[in-house]
Parts: sequence; structure tokens; C-alpha cells
Amino acid sequence: MKRIFPSEMNLDPIDFYDQIRTPHIDRPWLLLNMITSIDGSTHISGTSGGLGGPADQKVLGTLRSFADVILVGSGTVHAENYRTPHAPGGESGKRRIEREQDQLPRLAVVSGSGNLDPEIPMFDQDELEGAKPLIYTSKNGNKNLPENFGEKAEIVTLGAGPVDLSFVLTDLFDRGAKVVLAEGGPSLNHQLVEAKLVDELCLTISPLLVGGESSGIINGPLFSYPHQFQLNGLATEDKFLFCRYLSK
Ligand SMILES: NC(=O)c1ccc[n+]([C@@H]2O[C@H](COP(=O)([O-])OP(=O)(O)OC[C@H]3O[C@@H](n4cnc5c(N)ncnc54)[C@H](OP(=O)(O)O)[C@@H]3O)[C@@H](O)[C@H]2O)c1
Repeated sequence: MKRIFPSEMNLDPIDFYDQIRTPHIDRPWLLLNMITSIDGSTHISGTSGGLGGPADQKVLGTLRSFADVILVGSGTVHAENYRTPHAPGGESGKRRIEREQDQLPRLAVVSGSGNLDPEIPMFDQDELEGAKPLIYTSKNGNKNLPENFGEKAEIVTLGAGPVDLSFVLTDLFDRGAKVVLAEGGPSLNHQLVEAKLVDELCLTISPLLVGGESSGIINGPLFSYPHQFQLNGLATEDKFLFCRYLSK
């Protein structure tokens, strides 16, 4: 990977992204990672895989290596058929051990409806390497969850309406999470930004124009004011552009 801002340098993605993440006193650092096409699409025919490539996959693995928890919306776990992440190896794994993090990040899914497909690979007990995934849901969602779902996931029920994402982050903090990686999708992202919870945005721009009607990285009504971020780093590899922004 070649860093082009703030200064030019060839480096490994681990060194581009391994930055001090100033801790909050009451919630984890929240890093949001997304990939888009040049024209801003976040999926091609329903999944994001067609936007990526080996360079992007390496970055995804690198960012996951910083995370104690990976937070996703239920739309994404269904669309992308989510699997349990593997423990990072090599330098990423070594640094993870140095930071005294668990071997691999835990998955946490937000679903107000509770309509989760138990056949998604992330719920497959045979694939599970670490702790069971967490499900953050509402009272009604809890009632709708498939039978015996408690065997596949740890269920946290937070109130009657939409799940309060600040509570989710507080709960993750209480469980020891220092860095949470949000992996979308755009509907969840909208709420995270609106609640002023996003500290860092890692945006990958794929060298493709795809057309169509996919939403951008944020899907929801106009914010009451634009949320400002500052560019912290810019790098390129294999025609992909990697942007790292920090919340201002
Ligand atoms: N390009 C990328 O980097 C990237 C990354 C991720 C996803 N994607 C794409 O984005 C699409 C999916 O995104 P999406 O925006 O449709 O869905 P999403 O944001 O992944 O999930 C939305 C769902 O999450 C649950 N949810 C979110 N916030 C909630 C809250 N506060 N309380 C309760 N439930 C909440 C709801 O689930 P229930 O309906 O179960 O209540 C809601 O319908 C897919 O096509 C995927 O491929 C792209």
C-alpha cells in the first residue's frame, strides 16, 4: 500500500491503520468501515463483494484485527450471509496479542424485528471459534426470534421501540470492548452518525462505476446538520483508494 497523505510512503496496511484511538470514558471507540464504487454505490445486486478485491480484503482483515466487537445491522448479515471472523494471523495477530485483546472479535447484530435467519453461517455452532454472537433487539423482537435462538446467540433486549445504539455501545463497553468496528449497512450507519457515535470512518473507494439505485454509505433522512470529519490519511493500492477520516 502507498500512503499519499499526510506524506508519501510505502507501508503495510497494518501501519496505515494502527493509530492511537483515544479512549472514551464510558463507551468504546467506534470505527466505521465501508466500501463504495466511484459513483457511491455500496452494493452490486444486493451484496458488496463485487466492489472489492484482494487489496480491500486485506484492509478489511486489518481493520477487524483492531476490533473487540464487529457491529452490524440485520440487513447486512442477511445480504452478506455473515460468517464468524477468523483470528488474525501474522503481524496483525501479533499486535492483537500485544494489545491484550481476545483472539478474535465478537459479532454483534442489531435487529428490532427479531426476524433473523438461524441458517446464516454466523449462527452455526460448528463454525464458532469464540464467544457466541450478541443480538441487540427490542421486546417485540425478542418474542419473534426463532425458537431456541438463545443457544446460538446471546440476546440482549433493550426496551420496546428501536434499539438505542448508545445503550448498545455502553453495554459493549461494560463487557470490556475498547474498539468496536461497525460494518454497516447504510441504515445502521445513519443512526450511528446521527447519535454522534462514529469516531473514525474508513472509506474504501473501488475503481468502478456501477450505476443502479444502491444507497450511499448513509441511508436515512437528511441530518439536521452536516456531520464534519477530517481527513487523517489517504492511501492507494491496486487502483483502490483508502481514506481514513476522524470525527471533528
Ligand atoms: N459497501 C459496504 O461496505 C457495505 C457494508 C455493509 C452492507 N452493505 C450493503 O448494504 C445493504 C444492507 O444495508 P441496509 O441499510 O439495508 O441494512 P442494515 O443497516 O445492515 O440493517 C438494517 C436493519 O438493522 C436493524 N436495525 C438497525 N438499526 C436498528 C435500531 N436502532 N433498532 C433496531 N433495529 C435496528 C433493523 O433490523 P430489523 O429489520 O431486523 O428490525 C434494520 O432493518 C446490503 O445490500 C449490503 O450488501 C454494504
